[in-house]
Amino acid sequence: MSKTIYILNGPNLNLLGKRQPEIYGHDTLDDVARNCAAVAAEFGLETDLRQSNHEGEIIDWIHEAREKAAAIVINPAAYTHTSVAILDALNTFEGPVIEVHISQVHKREPFRHHSYVSHRSDAVMAGFGIGGYALAVRHLGLTLGG
Ligand code: DQA
Repeated sequence: MSKTIYILNGPNLNLLGKRQPEIYGHDTLDDVARNCAAVAAEFGLETDLRQSNHEGEIIDWIHEAREKAAAIVINPAAYTHTSVAILDALNTFEGPVIEVHISQVHKREPFRHHSYVSHRSDAVMAGFGIGGYALAVRHLGLTLGG
């Protein structure tokens, strides 16, 4: 079985640390990658963190994950609320899927309250800041084994 967890990030998250820090904090996606890799290593797992501003690229990575990943952690960003195509792609993946939102989306505008991706997600983290990613990886480490 693959030992890699794909950590996929949607649009604008390349600007994490610079983008609306009052909502998303000052840490960057590189910090997320480092934190997740350290937690995964505790369980003998690896992480592969990617970010794209393009829906189709994220879908291609989910298809790739079917062959190469044990689990997916995904923050689809704004595509959370719009993308049936990402939901359909996730429905082709057989391993665990954890949805992460840095902010507590349910406290925010009503259009952020609905997630297409949640129709597939096995667990959802929202409002833990970037810590949500590492918590998701820890849960996968504990449940997938190392
Ligand atoms: C987000 C929340 C989404 O509503 C928003 O579009 C994002 C980031 C989060 O991590 O809190 O870009 O997914």
